[in-house]
Amino acid sequence: MINKVSPIKKHLFINGEEVQTKEYSNLYSPYTREVISEIAVATKEQTEQAIEAAYQSKDEFARMPAFLRAQILENVVQLLKENFNEAAEIITRETAKPITFSLGEVTRTIETYKFAAEEAKRIHGETIPFDAASGGIGRVGYTVRNPIGVIGAITPFNFPMNLVAHKVGPAIASGNTVVLKPASQTPLSALFIAKLFKQAGLPDGVLNVVTGPGRTVGDTIVEDGRVNMITFTGSTSVGINIRNKAKLKKTTLELGSNAAVIIDKNINIDKIIDRCIMGAFSNQGQVCISLQRIFVHEEIYEEFTNKFVEAAKQLKLGNPFDHETYLSSLITPDELDRTLSWIEEAKQSNATILAGGKAQGNILEPTIIANCTPSLKVSCQEVFAPIVTVTKVKSIREAISHVNNSHYGLQAGIYTDSVSNALLASNELHVGAVIINDVPTFRVDNMPYGGVKESGTGREGIKFAVEEMTEMKLIVWNQN
Ligand code: SIN
Repeated sequence: MINKVSPIKKHLFINGEEVQTKEYSNLYSPYTREVISEIAVATKEQTEQAIEAAYQSKDEFARMPAFLRAQILENVVQLLKENFNEAAEIITRETAKPITFSLGEVTRTIETYKFAAEEAKRIHGETIPFDAASGGIGRVGYTVRNPIGVIGAITPFNFPMNLVAHKVGPAIASGNTVVLKPASQTPLSALFIAKLFKQAGLPDGVLNVVTGPGRTVGDTIVEDGRVNMITFTGSTSVGINIRNKAKLKKTTLELGSNAAVIIDKNINIDKIIDRCIMGAFSNQGQVCISLQRIFVHEEIYEEFTNKFVEAAKQLKLGNPFDHETYLSSLITPDELDRTLSWIEEAKQSNATILAGGKAQGNILEPTIIANCTPSLKVSCQEVFAPIVTVTKVKSIREAISHVNNSHYGLQAGIYTDSVSNALLASNELHVGAVIINDVPTFRVDNMPYGGVKESGTGREGIKFAVEEMTEMKLIVWNQN
């Protein structure tokens, strides 16, 4: 049986207090479809109240010494360690992420806040050699990095704790205040973290959480003049909309992708199957760098495909609280319908379903499709589901041109034993990161993470997010 919890009301978190609203909406378990909570639906006025709280606290928080900001983040690390299992259960309850993956997400979240605590203490500027310019003689100067002010953070459902950490962690490390809008399907993780921050000693008003479906909350945050920056992770279409509405506000956008791996000849297939399975199917494929397209050299295509299909068929589907479960429900029934319709489109073409292709209850079977044309939705759009295509190629150059034939460019992988092919891929792939001898679904939380093309702008990974969240200021001394 799934862990049952009685539905409880969850309020907004503004200026360090829980704030009730007139309206609450049901939050459903993606797996059982039972109501698991009632979530506050913020009005425009309440969202503005949260922005005002962040705005009023920004000057004082910007003056808080770095070691104290670091200490608050260290306290959150400690509190998360003490509440480790509860944190993982919250993730599983609201996302249907299998519990072993949720435990992994909490481990990563702890590391992310730890990196943020460390980064708070090393936000450096640089000295400028003014005498390199004839007009600069007799001047000395240096840059400092100042907090940008109020940050609007809009986070997705797929890593509801760690992707909140990727925005809140660097924001607090660099002395900014935050208005956080978590995905409407996953507010529980964000509200849980906000409480930990209060316990950790974060001053009231520095972190505010505003929930609710629809566009009211998001649009209000994006358009309000008191908000200085928007950091968003989610779909490309919403990202473009945010960018248009944000006008001159700084924006960091982590958007979609149809990530690919290239598998060269001479690769030991037995060694890479588990990584390909993880890349394509972990978190039900609901990962921006999920492995969606595999390009395999013709010499090993048959062997790879047979072994990959066999491994996919062994995966256990079911209750996300069961420690044996690898795959559970997609986030909503609408998402299941959408993905089934994309599979149907592929079937209507000449594509071949090698594994899966159907739903078992709310769960989409791990699905492997061959003979896909580049224009099929499963090839060219972001599937965000456990669906992967396999394509035979004659050469690495051909594979690279397939990978680059995409609106997206987040990460790509290549398995090869040839240094020259690895270098060719590194040089030619149009992506934010090339992962050599692994799937594109590789991320640790201190690495620069972000895309090119329609996969976004800016970089996360704490040090890099801190750069995005601070303004450079130049100080010049005239000694003449
Ligand atoms: C994402 O889906 O963009 C995040 C992937 C990750 O953090 O592993």
